Amino acid sequence: MSGSYQIVDHQFDVLVMGAGGAGLRAALGMAAQGLSTGCVSKLFPTRSHTVAAQGGIGAALGNIEEDDWRWHMYDTVAGSVWLGDQDAIAYMCREAPKTVIELEHFGVPFSRTEDGRIYQRKFGGHTTHCAQGDMAYRACAAADRTGHAILHALYQQCLKHGTRFFNEYFAFDLLMDDDGRCHGFLALCLADGTIHRFRAQMTVIATGGCGRVYENCTSAHTCTGDGGAMVLRAGIPLQDMEFVQFHPTGIYGAGVLVTEAARGEGGYLTNSEGDRFMPEYAPKEEDLASRDIVSHAEGVEIREGRGCGENGDYIELHLEEIDAETLKSKLPGVLDSARIFAGVDATKEPIPVVPTAHYCMGGIPTDLSCRVMKPDGQGGVEAVPGLMAIGEAACVSVHGSNRLGTNSLLEIVVFGRAAALRAAELIEPGAHLPDVPRDSQDRAMDCFDAQRHRDQGEMTGEVRADFQHIMQEHFSVFRDEDTMTEGIEALKCCSPRLEEMAVPDPTLPWNMSLVSALETRNLYEQAVVLGYSALDRQETRGAHIRDDFEERDDDNWLKHTLATRTGAGVKIDYRPVRLDTGIEGVETIEPGERII
Ligand code: FUM
Repeated sequence: MSGSYQIVDHQFDVLVMGAGGAGLRAALGMAAQGLSTGCVSKLFPTRSHTVAAQGGIGAALGNIEEDDWRWHMYDTVAGSVWLGDQDAIAYMCREAPKTVIELEHFGVPFSRTEDGRIYQRKFGGHTTHCAQGDMAYRACAAADRTGHAILHALYQQCLKHGTRFFNEYFAFDLLMDDDGRCHGFLALCLADGTIHRFRAQMTVIATGGCGRVYENCTSAHTCTGDGGAMVLRAGIPLQDMEFVQFHPTGIYGAGVLVTEAARGEGGYLTNSEGDRFMPEYAPKEEDLASRDIVSHAEGVEIREGRGCGENGDYIELHLEEIDAETLKSKLPGVLDSARIFAGVDATKEPIPVVPTAHYCMGGIPTDLSCRVMKPDGQGGVEAVPGLMAIGEAACVSVHGSNRLGTNSLLEIVVFGRAAALRAAELIEPGAHLPDVPRDSQDRAMDCFDAQRHRDQGEMTGEVRADFQHIMQEHFSVFRDEDTMTEGIEALKCCSPRLEEMAVPDPTLPWNMSLVSALETRNLYEQAVVLGYSALDRQETRGAHIRDDFEERDDDNWLKHTLATRTGAGVKIDYRPVRLDTGIEGVETIEPGERII
C-alpha cells in the first residue's frame, strides 16, 4: 500500500518526537552540541501541554528558607512510596538547582523575591529536614504560569541553536527493524497531507502522557500518549501504568486545573459542613499533604456524604482569605479559570473542585540516560537501540506511585538535558544511516491507509467517549477487583468498535477525523494496559488505592510493572526498584513508614 504514497525523506543525527518542555530541552541540548536535530510535533511547540503547568518547578535553591537537595530527594522517595528509582531521584534532585538557574539564564521570567531572587512557594509533600521540619519553600514560580514561561524560553533557545522544526506533523508509527532497532518514524504533515519518513541514529520520544484515556482530566485534548502507543505496537512494554495521579483541585464539571499553588499561598479545602477536613487526614501538612493523600481524603468526604452541592459530589477550595495583592500577582490564572470555568469570583466565594485525572506516573521504561528498556528474556532488561524516551511519556522512574507537584517540570528539563548529554556521547555527527526496513514501513502505512479509507462505521468521538467513561467509572481514585474486572470486560467490548471507526472523507490535508481516529486507537491501547496493570497490583500504594487490598505490601509489590500488549490481552512482567542512589555518600532511603 505504501507504494501509492509519495514519501518525503528526512535524515538527522537525532530526532525528537514532541515539542513540550522535555522535547525542547533535549532538542536544544542536542543542537547545541553539534548534532543535526529535527523536532517533529503535532502542535505548534508553544501550544504543547507543558504550557498548562502552573504552580512551579521544584529545586532546593533555599531562596526563602533553608533547603537542601537531599531533603528534596527524601520527599520525592517517600512521596513515591518507595516505588521511584532512587538513582534517578537522587540525580534529578541534585541537578535541580543548576537546571533552574540555567532556565533563568535561558530567559524564563520567574517571579522575584524583594531582593531579586527567584520566588519560591510551598507545595504539597515538600518538607524540610526529611519531614522533621516545616514545609519547604521549594517551588520556583513564574506567577501561576510557570510551564508557559519555561516552554516559551526553551522554544526560543531551540531556534537560537538551529533545531529544525516540523510543526503540526502527526507521527503515527516507529520504524523498527527485526533486531529491535529504531530507525525513526513516519508522520503526516497536517497542512498539506504529505507523508514523511524521518530517519536518525537516535529517536527521542517526548510525546507526553495519555491523560485523555479519562473522561474528566486536566490534560489537553491532545494528550493522547501517541509515543506510548507506538512503543506498545513495537512489542515494548509500558511501566507502572496503574499509577495515575488525581489532582485534588480540578474544577468540578470542567476538569480544568486549579494549581496546588493556591493552597501553597494559603488556600484550604472544606466539606459540606464547612469543616476543614485535611487536618484529620494529615495533621502536619494539612492541605499541603501529598496529592494522593488529599485526593483520597476528598474521595472519602464525598463517599461518606460530606460532599458539597445538590448532589454532594464536590469539595470547596477557599482563596477568599488570601490578600488581594497576592491573588493578583501570584495566582492571576486561577482567578481567571475560576471565573471562566466555574463562574465564581474566587476573591469572594469558594471554587468547586474534585479529584481529577492529571498525570501518568507510568510510561515508557528508561534507564538513567533515557534509553528505552525492555525485558531481555532472562529476567533482566536491555536497551532498545536507537530509542530514548523522556518526560511524561517516559517512566525513568522518579515519581513511583505518586508524583510530588513541581517534579514534572523538573523531570522534563533534567532528563531532557540528560538525553542530550547522552546522545552526544553515543552519536557520531553525520554518520551513515542504514536503510529503513521495508516491512515495518509497510505495516504502518497499511494501517494508516485502512483507517483513512474506512468511510462507513462508528463515529470516532462516540467510541472514544465510551471507553473514557469506562475508565472514569472503573479505574478512578478508588479501585477493587470487581469494579476493575468489569472495566476490563467493558473495554474489551470496545475493541471491535475501534476497527469500525469511520473517516468520512479521505482527503489528506487537515484531515482531523483521521488524526482523531489514530489518536483514539493510541488511547485505547494504553487504557487497556492501564486496566490490566491496575488489576494486577494487589496492594494500595500512592495513587493506586484498592478497597480490597488496603495495605501497602513491600514484600510482594516493591517492584515495577512492565505490561506488554499481546493480541487482545496484556502480559505482565516485573522489574526491581533501584534502591541504590548511585551517588557516593548518598545513602538509600530505606523503605519505611510514610510520614508525609
Ligand atoms: O498544581 C499544579 O500547579 C500542578 C503542578 C504539577 O502537576 O506539578
